[in-house]
Amino acid sequence: LNNGLALTPQMGWNSWNFFACHITEDLIRETADALVSTGLADLGYVYVNIDDCWSAATRNLEGQLVPDPKTFPSGIKALVDYVHGKGLKLGIYGDAGAFTCQVRPGSLFHETDDAQLFASWGVDYLKYDNCFNLGIDPKKRYPPMRDALNATGRTIFYSLCEWGVDDPALWARGVGNSWRTTDDINDTWASMTTIADINNKWASYAGPGGWNDPDMLEVGNGGMTYQEYRAHFSIWALMKAPLLIGCDVRNMTAETFEILSNKEVISVNQDSLGVQGRIVQVAGEANCQQVWAGPLCGNRLAVALWNRCSKAATITAKWEALGLESSTHVAVRDLWQYKDVVGNVVASFGAEVESHDCHMYIFTPKTAAHSEI
Ligand code: GLA
Repeated sequence: LNNGLALTPQMGWNSWNFFACHITEDLIRETADALVSTGLADLGYVYVNIDDCWSAATRNLEGQLVPDPKTFPSGIKALVDYVHGKGLKLGIYGDAGAFTCQVRPGSLFHETDDAQLFASWGVDYLKYDNCFNLGIDPKKRYPPMRDALNATGRTIFYSLCEWGVDDPALWARGVGNSWRTTDDINDTWASMTTIADINNKWASYAGPGGWNDPDMLEVGNGGMTYQEYRAHFSIWALMKAPLLIGCDVRNMTAETFEILSNKEVISVNQDSLGVQGRIVQVAGEANCQQVWAGPLCGNRLAVALWNRCSKAATITAKWEALGLESSTHVAVRDLWQYKDVVGNVVASFGAEVESHDCHMYIFTPKTAAHSEI
């Protein structure tokens, strides 16, 4: 969507994956505090997004949405002011149907009123869900909210949550800043890998202004190993997915923080070229030895060696699969070791990767003059 936003994928936090409906204004304030105090905000995680369950069960007599008086007694405007005071942005959630997925009032046929209300609160981001949609074509339900947001005069990030049911990659570029390509993620290896593969199919449709959204991060929620979370974060970064943290950032382990705060991996996600990386080479049983890659600005490449097998394996990326001439020498930076790889790298690059782990690199092709010696 050409509204000046999403030149790179959005980064921030969302309440759903860890808290579901157990949200309060205190939690949102404490999360904003934690994003700042941990340094995550400075790394780019600026959106603080409230998901479903912020609203009361019914509209008021004027037909407006109202924050749940028990859990958000001070209202959304006060929360927005607090979050803005920390230098962050606030996101809210609505639904392109009669009700939200947790049966709060939906915004279908209330687009203008609800967009005006969100803008009057100073909201910066809307995630717009797909429950209770009355069987109406999403191509008819999502554009009215785009137009209503646009008419407010406030620039609001528009995140489509249509679950990939009607192939949104094919039509959503002019509608939203990102579109979900899949059903909901859950905190398991099986879910994460399935979703990565579905999102991969739509790679060519992503770019500045509009991104494929394989759903929010589960890093730190406990259902996967350290290696699996590192793979999850690496592949989401490389696929130019939104990096929306889904854990309790007030209580992160050192390992969780280490993954989420890897500047070099984040820089791949936020690269100005904005090309989604994809699977470029597979080998092994059930194609479990995978190479994912994509171009970065400055003629560089992001390369991930992802071992989805049940045992350790040596994965070797061949230049042919990466679109490099076989004689090209490259400088290799290992993004999880925070180290330059020593030695002359040409024609292929391999490494031993633990089961379910993922190595990630930036390749910088050297000029012929450099590679002579
Ligand atoms: C849907 C969405 C989720 C979340 C829930 C909230 O399932 O896909 O991301 O927003 O609704 O009810």
